[in-house]
Amino acid sequence: MTSPVRLALLGCGTVGSEVVRLLHEQSTDLAARIGAPLEIVGIAVRRLGRDRGALPVDDALFTTDALGLIKRDDVDVVIEVVGGIEPARGWLVEALRAGKSVVTANKALLAEDGAALHDAAAEGGADLYYEASVAGAIPLLRPLRDSLHGDRVNRVTGIVNGTTNFILSAMDATGAGFAEALEEATELGYAEADPTADVEGFDAAAKAAILASLAFHTRITAADVYREGITEVTAADVASAKAMGCTIKLLCIAARGRDAAGADTVSVRVHPAMIPLTHPLASVGDAFNAVFVEAEAAGQLMFYGRGAGGAPTASAVLGDVVAVARNRLAGVRAASESAYADLAVRPMGEALTRYHVSLDVADRPGVLASVAGVFARHDVSIATVRQGSAGGGRPGSGDDAELVIVTHVAPDAALAATVGELHGLDIVRSVTSVLRVEGEA
Ligand SMILES: NC(=O)c1ccc[n+]([C@@H]2O[C@H](COP(=O)([O-])OP(=O)(O)OC[C@H]3O[C@@H](n4cnc5c(N)ncnc54)[C@H](OP(=O)(O)O)[C@@H]3O)[C@@H](O)[C@H]2O)c1
Repeated sequence: MTSPVRLALLGCGTVGSEVVRLLHEQSTDLAARIGAPLEIVGIAVRRLGRDRGALPVDDALFTTDALGLIKRDDVDVVIEVVGGIEPARGWLVEALRAGKSVVTANKALLAEDGAALHDAAAEGGADLYYEASVAGAIPLLRPLRDSLHGDRVNRVTGIVNGTTNFILSAMDATGAGFAEALEEATELGYAEADPTADVEGFDAAAKAAILASLAFHTRITAADVYREGITEVTAADVASAKAMGCTIKLLCIAARGRDAAGADTVSVRVHPAMIPLTHPLASVGDAFNAVFVEAEAAGQLMFYGRGAGGAPTASAVLGDVVAVARNRLAGVRAASESAYADLAVRPMGEALTRYHVSLDVADRPGVLASVAGVFARHDVSIATVRQGSAGGGRPGSGDDAELVIVTHVAPDAALAATVGELHGLDIVRSVTSVLRVEGEA
């Protein structure tokens, strides 16, 4: 019998405990697929006394000394499901430099300083796999990293955060406001006690950085990603989207472009946007994730599934463990990071999209012309205008009125300047919402 591939597991929480369970339940099949059994030789946690249910492992495997475990000679592969930047970065750099392959679900670390991990992997001749870091169970990074390497990806558009998708889907289904939908998500366990990372878009931005790096063969960090969360999305926005045949989703969008000199660039952004109900991502409801990839030769591809949860994420972790274990037995290493394109990041101001702008205006003759004049001055072309009565009064009665303007495609900076000037008009009581509109009109 071939000697086992020995695993150090860092973290035994939501994901880690499912990794332990699956390794146990699938041990015979995994050994057959790899050509050697997998053996957990140690599990690092923060609290030794924590109740972890009936896990099928010996208590003696648990330790609080993660670094000591990584350094042991009998460790071949390190699985990191702790999260956070430090101490995880120090642990993984240590493991990789020592030639131990790493499987991690740590999107925050990869997006903040993936370079440190890739460089350490190259130095130590070790594998670095991280399928579980984006969109949980959905096989997505391997297709981008391997299957599409013969193609040229032009755009990646994704719903990569289950919490925000649950909230926006609930707002769409029931007409609830953000706070009410967040409360429901928290009660059902879809939102953390502190939901900031999800609702402010930080989690999606980290995933966007990882996706863009792989799709465009370049290094993108979370700091390169323009980010807006969903806390400002109102029930009125959702109703307005419906009236236009759209729904609102928190999208991550990574797109190729060109600068003035014709050189390739990339823009990466995360923000709520209206998308037409006919768009493939519009029907992705509940806490599901989906990523839509557009490539030169392959055309449009869609990846859909559960983006989080212990078992779905553990499935992605184990897929990576099988891959690195096989490589190890074969004495090979997967191709190293492909970042040769080294693309410049296009500023958000140059991103091109359509906009939905709602205004509370004085209901007087000439208002529409004044507002339209502001858009024209900034070269933002108006596609449609809808007028209603904000206060419930008759149009032309002197009460406030609501104007909803949808533009043609324009640069973000031009729209920002337009909105800035609208704020200064005495006939504009308030700019009640500005939302981007993505997808074909
Ligand atoms: N949960 C998901 O659905 C999901 C989906 C995709 C990716 N991920 C990623 O997977 C990773 C783990 O997430 P999770 O939800 O499983 O987290 P979790 O439930 O909070 O578990 C974290 C684990 O790390 C251990 N830990 C914390 N600090 C430690 C330290 N200093 N030394 C040793 N162990 C330490 C904890 O020990 P104790 O048990 O003793 O507290 C716990 O076992 C994160 O990077 C997360 O972003 C999670």
